[in-house]
Amino acid sequence: MTQAGSDNTTAGAARHGFGVDVGGSGIKGGIVDLSTGELVGDRYKIQTPQPSTPDAIARTVAEIVAHFEWTGPVGVTLPAVVTNGVARSAANIDKSWIDTDARALFAKAIGTDSVTVLNDADAAGVAEDKYGGGKGKDGVVVLLTFGTGIGSAVLHNGVLLPNTEFGHMEIGGKEAEHRAASSVKENQDLSYKEWAKEVSTVLEAFEALLWPDLFIAGGGISRKSEKWIPHLTNRTPVVPATLLNTAGIVGAALAADTAVPSAETDTSAGSVD
Ligand code: BGC
Repeated sequence: MTQAGSDNTTAGAARHGFGVDVGGSGIKGGIVDLSTGELVGDRYKIQTPQPSTPDAIARTVAEIVAHFEWTGPVGVTLPAVVTNGVARSAANIDKSWIDTDARALFAKAIGTDSVTVLNDADAAGVAEDKYGGGKGKDGVVVLLTFGTGIGSAVLHNGVLLPNTEFGHMEIGGKEAEHRAASSVKENQDLSYKEWAKEVSTVLEAFEALLWPDLFIAGGGISRKSEKWIPHLTNRTPVVPATLLNTAGIVGAALAADTAVPSAETDTSAGSVD
């Protein structure tokens, strides 16, 4: 496949990055124009291998990178808490991810030293904050992804506080994601209005603790935002995510690009993984 520059140093005017978004059902990657947050060409998707063990996923991630003949820094998301490149939890992927050094594993599989690994919602959050629903907004921005669970990302003036897990906060005796993930709407066959009531309860609990300036609602259900955002009764404005299914790829590419300058001296400083 011919690309407009297979690494970010030879890309000419536009600076390019590369991101891979690992989900429970699909693994998607692509080249990202870091000045616009748009994909350069198509994204490439492969079904998540089952069982979704670290080795099986690392092989798939490497296949996606090879598909684009990409040789620069790579950002990879995981549906997991990730500290210093190590997965500390595992949501919708094999439990053997817990305590796996994901950064080392992906680096070996891809054949590069330059890998940044971060939580999937954090990646979507940095992408939406910079290029999407939060573009130009200062203050505290909270992105929530409504899917099988609820992922969260908290940013202050564009700087991420990594690994917040607000989807697991207990609200009225139930975890937030058991109350208001979009899977709950499906499983309980709730109308948008009924589901929006649960989402409002969750947002009210979050806003009482965080006092955000803006919520960004992500996940597939944000495509139908006009059906439920108007029913919300919480205080803080809620806008839909705009990057939709590319947010994870874009945020991963951005995180990898941001991590590069510090990589030679200190792999943790200035990095969001
Ligand atoms: C996990 C988060 C993840 C979110 C979305 C939650 O269940 O705890 O780490 O970001 O699902 O995948």
